[in-house]
Amino acid sequence: MTITAIRGFNDIMPAETAIWLHIEEEARRIFRSYGFSEIRIPLLERTELFKRSIGETTDIVEKEMYTFTDRHGDSLTLRPEGTAPVVRAYIEHKLYKRPISKLYYMGPMFRYERPQRGRYRQFYQIGAEVLSEGSPKLDAEVLEMLMALLKSIGLKGATLDINSLGCRACRPQYKEKVKKFLETRRKVLCENCLRRINVNPLRALDCKSTGCKDATVDVPSILDTICNGCKEHFEEVKRHLSAFDIHPSINPRMVRGLDYYTKTTFEITAEGLGAQNAVVAGGRYDGLVQDLGGPDTPCFGFAIGMERLVLIMKDKEFVREPLLFVAIFGGSEVEMKGTEIIKELRDLGFAVEREYADKGIKAQMKKANKIGASFVLLLGKDEHDRGVVAIKDMKTGSQKDVKLDEIVEVLNKELSTIKKGE
Ligand code: HAM
Repeated sequence: MTITAIRGFNDIMPAETAIWLHIEEEARRIFRSYGFSEIRIPLLERTELFKRSIGETTDIVEKEMYTFTDRHGDSLTLRPEGTAPVVRAYIEHKLYKRPISKLYYMGPMFRYERPQRGRYRQFYQIGAEVLSEGSPKLDAEVLEMLMALLKSIGLKGATLDINSLGCRACRPQYKEKVKKFLETRRKVLCENCLRRINVNPLRALDCKSTGCKDATVDVPSILDTICNGCKEHFEEVKRHLSAFDIHPSINPRMVRGLDYYTKTTFEITAEGLGAQNAVVAGGRYDGLVQDLGGPDTPCFGFAIGMERLVLIMKDKEFVREPLLFVAIFGGSEVEMKGTEIIKELRDLGFAVEREYADKGIKAQMKKANKIGASFVLLLGKDEHDRGVVAIKDMKTGSQKDVKLDEIVEVLNKELSTIKKGE
């Protein structure tokens, strides 16, 4: 019997990785220009870290974590997200001694969710966190960076929703309001939300069951309850966003599935995923560093869901790195020259493939065609003796002889027209 991958765990195949790489490279380039550096955090953390940060009564902690006891008897969890590990590292390495930390990470996260289109058990995030900056200008700038990234990778029709979840001083009043509101709707709430009414009533606003969704459509708006400081912060975020010509929708129902958020929260949805499927999400978490034993530190961050982003970009025309094929036939001297040409081209950064077995021109052309080579460089005994290679354009079928010292120039010219899509 063959062994298959685990449900919800995907192989990302070579045909797809080109687009993954393109997104990752653009993210690195843009993040760098906004002052971010990469942090690489472990896949495994102590379970306690996620319980204390994401919240004991969230779906993630209650039912979605991959938790196990190791041989030493410690409870460990495969990271379901990256913010808590980044904060742990920030405290552990005393990064709070620096004026500001702008960190980004890329990698897999694990949640035991019901797999479906755009929702998996192992999924990849590109996340960014700014620690030690509370200004609303920062919230707006990070959102602007995110929109710039989405634009640069060609994503159109992205919608930004924002909200404010208030601070530790004013949120309890809103919680109390929601609790009272939910009490009047007990009959229609799901079991989970009923159980959480007293401990975490806001979770009902994020519940996916239709009963709870319908029951909470006219829940009081959090924006009417937050304190003046939080209101002012929110107004400033909007003002700075509009200076960047970004005009988000205000969604006072958006509470997010993790408990650590304060003040600004946001989600970005895109055409082709459905309204429930955010492709990026994040916000402020001004209390988390302190909750985990560090100093009082305002923070803001986000995470992009890579699979979701790739899903909506898949249909787009995507220009792949062109591949060359060098077909060599005609004895050992020709073979040596061909190998030399391949090495030179590779050293210059061209992607080059070849045939290793002793095969004729026909078989080699067939292979070049199958692997999708854009150009084939033919080097037979005749070409070798004349000091040329024949370069064949696989799309048009046209072929011309090119002197050895002009190969690079000709290829650069031909390939630049391919990249431009001409
Ligand atoms: P999150 O909303 O749980 O936030 O996840 C962020 C994004 O990861 C989602 O919008 C979605 O695109 C993607 N995602 C989440 N779960 C899955 C899944 N099961 N399958 C595929 N994609 C998924 C966080 O994780 C926070 N740490 C974000 C953050 C950073 N907040 C502040 N800093």
